Amino acid sequence: MLFIGIDLGTSAMKLLLMEGTGAIVNAVSKEYPLEFPRPGWSQQDPENWRRALLEGVPELLRGFDAGQVAGIGAGGQMHGLVALDREDRVLRPAILWNDGRTAREVDYLNNVVGRERLSRLTANIAFAGFTAPKLLWMRENEPELFHKIAKIMLPKDYINYLLTGVHCTDFSDASGMLLLDVEHRRWSREMLELCGVTEAQMPRLFESYEAVGTLRPEMARALGLPESVVVCAGAGDNAAAAVGTGTVGEGSCNISLGTSGTVFISSEKFGVDPHNALHAFAHADGRYHLMGCMLSAASCNKWLMEDIFQTSDYAGEQEPITAEKLGNNHVFFLPYLMGERSPINDTNARGTFTGLTMDTTRADLTQAVLEGVAFAIRDSFEVAKALGIPIDRSKLCGGGARSPLWRTILANVLNIRLEIPESEQGPGMGGAMLAMVACGLYKDVAEVCARLVRIAEVLEPDPALAARYEARYRQFREIYPAMKGLFPSLL
Ligand code: XUL
Repeated sequence: MLFIGIDLGTSAMKLLLMEGTGAIVNAVSKEYPLEFPRPGWSQQDPENWRRALLEGVPELLRGFDAGQVAGIGAGGQMHGLVALDREDRVLRPAILWNDGRTAREVDYLNNVVGRERLSRLTANIAFAGFTAPKLLWMRENEPELFHKIAKIMLPKDYINYLLTGVHCTDFSDASGMLLLDVEHRRWSREMLELCGVTEAQMPRLFESYEAVGTLRPEMARALGLPESVVVCAGAGDNAAAAVGTGTVGEGSCNISLGTSGTVFISSEKFGVDPHNALHAFAHADGRYHLMGCMLSAASCNKWLMEDIFQTSDYAGEQEPITAEKLGNNHVFFLPYLMGERSPINDTNARGTFTGLTMDTTRADLTQAVLEGVAFAIRDSFEVAKALGIPIDRSKLCGGGARSPLWRTILANVLNIRLEIPESEQGPGMGGAMLAMVACGLYKDVAEVCARLVRIAEVLEPDPALAARYEARYRQFREIYPAMKGLFPSLL
């Protein structure tokens, strides 16, 4: 039996074909553009995702027996607002998770409606990328379009809708809308009302591993698949990645170094960070998790390499960064190229290099970017630590995990053991694994994780290097507070 896992990312749709025994037999990636119509805004036309699906699946299946495909599961970029009209036509480009246009709406939600009330209703407070502030923004700025909304969904839900015709979402992804009562796994009537929408406009809620339907006949034909293929609800990309790296159960941790950088701590029980710096969301295994999300992680390195240095030779740029340079860099980088979410929640924050001198090299800048991202991940770790959550090890996935240098920096900045799974394609793999559960191949998410996830490499921190990074991290922590007051005047 074969399963298709889809990772609906920010820069590309990554598809993989997996056997029920866990072997990844093929993978295809379809890139698409991201629009930044104004500084800090970020949107994408869902038509790109549809095209990637229609081109990607047949390409993925080439040379394989499509009749063997039993299920499809997707993990997708979270929080994006996809609005459909009564004919299920997309009303406007999706406003993405890293969009910062909703500063006013976030202020209204957190300070007028109030953090305490939001947290009581949804277990979370408002962040610019979350879906509820985007609805308020649309109501204010695009009232004609807002009144045409018949259905609201998240990016991967649009894929599931295209596949099955069902308007659905899952609890992990719905958690990031600020419209879900996360603890009780149901829409919050009060929040829907506050945002001027009704339950009829919301997609139907499923557990990630539940089947939402089978393929529409025209979609089955277009993709070259049998109509019997089961589509599961799937998950937000971080919950899907956690499944793909086996991060389920009490207290296990996964770090994703993708476009965003996340720290994901799974939990058997519902719990809220009293300061709401970490998100309290539902997990794809039917339980819960806490998560810190930085908006620009591997994307900072991509920006430096491709946009600034105009190179695609990432490894070549990292070559001069030898072991003795680690923990000794005098240059610091604040990775806030899209503002920042966790834990500082500041849409005005911007990227900075600090500490440049005449002998600063290109490699020092590269190192500063890799370290700055690791330090910012550490910021979320510190929040978890303050909550009394002990983390001495974590899985690592995402494109950034491919760099051995970045892994070493991260293990030592965090001073924890990093476990690198065989595949860094967490969300796609997690999507396929959820589909296996939906098809009854495994009894639950814990079982599919225990059976299929294998660790390829373990990285232990080095005490001397971890100590050097501890001192650097203390310095890094001073930079943002010193700059914070300046950022709004730079806009
Ligand atoms: C999580 C978040 C990002 C996106 C990236 O809250 O916003 O990790 O899901 O795709």
